[in-house]
Amino acid sequence: MSKVAVVLAAGQGTRMNSDLPKVVHRAAGRPLINWALEGISGIEPDRTMVVVGHGAERVLELLPPEVEHVVQEPQGGTGHAVQVALDALGDLADDDIVVISYGDMPLVSSDTYMALASLCEPGQAAITSVLLDDPRGYGRVMRDSDGRVVKVVEERDAAPEELQVRELNAGLYAFAAGDIRMAVSQLRSDNAQGELYLTDVIGILSAEGVNVATVQAEAHDLLGVNTHAHLAEIEEVLRRRINQSWMERGVRMIDPSRTYVGHDVTLAAGVILYPGCHLEDGTVVEAGAVVGPDVFASESRIGPRCRVWYSVLRGAVVGEGAQVGPFASLRPGVTLEAAAKAGTFVEMKNTTVREGAKVPHLSYLGDAEVGEGANVGAGTITCNYDGFEKHETHIGAGAFIGSDTMLVAPVRIGDGAMTGAGSVITKDVEPGALGMERSEQTNIQDFAARREARYRASRSREEA
Ligand code: UD1
Ligand code: MG
Repeated sequence: MSKVAVVLAAGQGTRMNSDLPKVVHRAAGRPLINWALEGISGIEPDRTMVVVGHGAERVLELLPPEVEHVVQEPQGGTGHAVQVALDALGDLADDDIVVISYGDMPLVSSDTYMALASLCEPGQAAITSVLLDDPRGYGRVMRDSDGRVVKVVEERDAAPEELQVRELNAGLYAFAAGDIRMAVSQLRSDNAQGELYLTDVIGILSAEGVNVATVQAEAHDLLGVNTHAHLAEIEEVLRRRINQSWMERGVRMIDPSRTYVGHDVTLAAGVILYPGCHLEDGTVVEAGAVVGPDVFASESRIGPRCRVWYSVLRGAVVGEGAQVGPFASLRPGVTLEAAAKAGTFVEMKNTTVREGAKVPHLSYLGDAEVGEGANVGAGTITCNYDGFEKHETHIGAGAFIGSDTMLVAPVRIGDGAMTGAGSVITKDVEPGALGMERSEQTNIQDFAARREARYRASRSREEA
């Protein structure tokens, strides 16, 4: 006997009003289909088949290599999708177990899938149901007077008394392969949507004497996504789960309800996150770092004991004890080495700031290297773009760049060199030299008093 997982993901998701196929939408940074595949992998299936259709190419990009797929075209309903999947799976033994789920249910735990699979054998099917006051448009699970499941009725096809039922079909099923093959061959589309409903197999199997067991799961786990409001609910549940697990591992979150940590982010024990942190796409935060308030970081590494606040980091690497912000923007290719600083209103791109070097205020550095221990004065800008190409700026170790220096690239400032405040530096500055580019200052004595006298004289001429 082998186990087969089938995930249905061919539908458009009309109620999302989106060009993206529904299962491609992300929750906590991960597409819904990948959450669904992770959950169902808990049964340790011998094969996994995903049914794709609407926006198939977008969905296929997301599937891991061990997963098989089949295209359902056109999409004739969930029952049709299972027919297509069974055809693609070919010869299954009658007692193979087929576990079916919908790609739009990201919260289902592996335990729920395992419970379903373990209840199932030939002549015995299992479905999940959930008791909810808000029926959310779900199918209703109908039982006979002995409490046996006899069918599932879709909301749009339900009679008024059936609509009152609050035991809802969550959309996870386990069948013996022989049973489901028999049942899907009998599906008919004479219903409100003119589709083949997978849910109708419950009535067919029950009529054939197959017992249908139900697994009751945590209501939260069984939320499906049909609308953006549902997606926001799911996101909230995932946020709570992710944050809870990081706090258990020693991360301090000042306000977990306003802390957004993607599923693939890594945090060390002892990290402190202030509200408004959005950490995404593989970002790593190391021990003792204090991040936030209000930091967006994607594809970035924030080193041990860093202080990062009110800032945006995309593809940046921040070394031990470095400081970022407030209001810094570190774009791809930025490395701050240990104890370096990118301070207030500083933007950097493709720039390395070596150990202990500081860029404290109001600067733009692009395609640059700042040597160890150098200091870059307020208002310094690397003029890296000549309208056609980008050029590099090298600032030597221990250099002192005066405030408001324009470094017109390509240009090199030697080790221990200086530039005069307000200079436009277009030529290399040798190590230890001062590069200065501005006219000599002249002071005109008594200018203010003479100017005032001129003004008063002209006023009295006008009044005369
Ligand atoms: C379905 C169930 C409903 C259940 C609810 C739980 C049916 C008929 N109804 O309704 O009883 O309460 O889920 O969330 O099954 N899909 C395909 N091919 C198709 C149509 C759909 O692969 O031709 C896929 C979709 O991509 C989706 C899943 O099947 O991932 C479910 O389809 P959806 O339209 O969301 O069904 P619901 O109306 O939510
Ligand atoms: Mg659905």
